[in-house]
Amino acid sequence: MNALVDVLSSDYHDNIYERYAVLRENHPAYFDASRNIWMITRYEDVRRLLRHSEGTLNGETGHSYIPSLATTDGDLHNTVRKAIIPEFSRGVIAQLEPLVNDIVEGLFASLPASGTIDIYNDVVRMLPQQFMTRFLGFPASAVDQWHDIGNILMGADPLSNENATPELAVKTLDDFAALIDQVLEEKRHQPDDDHLSWLVSQESAGVLTSEETSIFANCLGFASVDTTINLLGNGTALLARFPEQRQKLIENPQMLDGAIEEMLRFDPPAQGLPRRLTQDLDIDGTVIPNGAEISLVFAAANHDPQHYSDPDSFDIERPNKDHLALGFGLHKCIGQHLARLEAKAYFPRLLSAYPDYEIAESRWRLSHWARGYAALTINA
Ligand code: HEM
Repeated sequence: MNALVDVLSSDYHDNIYERYAVLRENHPAYFDASRNIWMITRYEDVRRLLRHSEGTLNGETGHSYIPSLATTDGDLHNTVRKAIIPEFSRGVIAQLEPLVNDIVEGLFASLPASGTIDIYNDVVRMLPQQFMTRFLGFPASAVDQWHDIGNILMGADPLSNENATPELAVKTLDDFAALIDQVLEEKRHQPDDDHLSWLVSQESAGVLTSEETSIFANCLGFASVDTTINLLGNGTALLARFPEQRQKLIENPQMLDGAIEEMLRFDPPAQGLPRRLTQDLDIDGTVIPNGAEISLVFAAANHDPQHYSDPDSFDIERPNKDHLALGFGLHKCIGQHLARLEAKAYFPRLLSAYPDYEIAESRWRLSHWARGYAALTINA
């Protein structure tokens, strides 16, 4: 076997769950020297660290260059989260169902009835982009720049010359932050019926400061779009890999909610996210020193046989409400209902259009934290 963890190799990404199994079994706290980070892979450890977040910080990690609610701690995090969370409740988000269905219909309408279909570029990437553009009220003039940040942050396509270096990521994010500030300024002067206008209205209502609205708006580019793209892409591939599960879903559409949770458990779009230790941490006798950076590997935890029976089988009837793909505790994903709404519109439409599709071509991005395709085409 090559290096146990090598996030820059396709071999690692092609066999990632086998590697996680070795880590969980033999090195539940594994130091990946190439990234200077300790990987925590057992379900109980990851969940405990998410639940009792004392002793860890979300900020001051390798991800802190990303201005995001998820990389903010303490009072600032609490204030922003408390103010915005009602806007993302299941009931509020459910009102967007007609919009998401319209977008899905429009995207599938342009596809051929059969043949090789670039499902990734023609639908999977487009749906979250178009949906979040409309939900946020992002001006058409700025959409391309907004969407460009995803590829840089998600990791490189192994077949392209595109170089997703940390320096490029920082520059892309700086440019993006300037763009967001400009859009927020426009919304302050010309509010509309959209989420960013609601967000700036919280400034005049005295609930949030402009720094706080900016922190939240800044993370929406990649937190809301690229993660959901990966749920749709990874789920598309899983249904082809496990055709008997796909057939069961076609025959039992009421199993859709469970199928989406199983997609999230099986192949989480965010494989792992970092924390900075503010005290020593003992994992099964290995003491990780105060100040070190750890990665909570949700994806490895989601395949832990101590927690899930037969974890590497994809089972849409599995009771798995406790998977960690959306995090847990203080920082649990705020956009979870948006992502589920999109998935619930997309998968039934995919299956009615192409019930027997097979994967024609697929290639993982080389990412240090995300799991998503650089290419995914189907034969239908
Ligand atoms: C399938 C799609 C998605 C996945 C897999 C996902 C995953 C996650 C995860 C794992 C976290 C926890 C971060 C941590 O503990 O460090 C998180 C937080 C977050 N997510 Fe999502 N997410 C998705 C979709 C969305 C969408 C559509 C939005 C749109 C608003 C969103 C906004 C956020 C925000 C703002 C946070 C930070 C919450 C906080 O720190 O309090 N996410 N997400």
